[in-house]
Amino acid sequence: MRKTIIAGNWKLFKTIPEAIDLANGIKRELLDCVNVDVVLCPVYTALSEVAEIIQDTDIKLGAQDLYWQDEGAFTGEVSGKMLLDAGCSYVIIGHSERRQFFAETNETVNKKIKAALKIGLTPIVCCGEMLAEREAGNTFKVLDDHIKNGLTGLSEEEALKIVIAYEPVWAIGTGKTASPIQAQEAHKYIRDQLAKLYNKDTADAIRLQYGGSVKPENITELMKQPDVDGALVGGASLQVASFSEIVKKASTVKK
Ligand code: 13P
Repeated sequence: MRKTIIAGNWKLFKTIPEAIDLANGIKRELLDCVNVDVVLCPVYTALSEVAEIIQDTDIKLGAQDLYWQDEGAFTGEVSGKMLLDAGCSYVIIGHSERRQFFAETNETVNKKIKAALKIGLTPIVCCGEMLAEREAGNTFKVLDDHIKNGLTGLSEEEALKIVIAYEPVWAIGTGKTASPIQAQEAHKYIRDQLAKLYNKDTADAIRLQYGGSVKPENITELMKQPDVDGALVGGASLQVASFSEIVKKASTVKK
């Protein structure tokens, strides 16, 4: 049984006071929601404050990226060691916005995954195709590339510790969600690739999140898909009501 995992990627939103308000609101709403792993991923500057708010709950803290060195002359970067220090247990790696705007590649994703695992952070590894790639019929090819090259050199034991988020780029922030069937098809493909890279038991144990315009209105149908184990939520994670409703609805879907 894979435990449902819903993460809120706050992206480049929320000042520290706003992040405190949001985290307090989510904590109030979700105190009883124990059958879902909930992860909040604020901007770096708000990590410590959010950590303090959720420290007495089951809600976990995640960062949106990391650098693979522990420390050194790397101006502007934040390491896994520092994220741990700030209270994180998860870190998003290889988000499409980082691939598009910040020159993230499968090679850097791979180094970051290894660095996160080494320090004890759970990586949420993102993959997914752009619209042109889908329209050209290359969705599976892109997923293959992101998964195989992103996970290069990871042992079975390490692979079991990661979460993978399928986020079709054309569905991010556009209001266009992949249909539950499209999401299931991609998730099934990813799981099959994991089974080829490792084995069926390992593939069956790895949690796969869907991301891209997830809302309270579509979470139930997405979660009903056999290979959708949760969601990585952007816009709808920025408000207490919508994020809490997504988590609560996800928690009621029986697999
Ligand atoms: P939206 O939910 O705003 O489409 O963002 C999805 C996403 O990129 C989460 O990482």
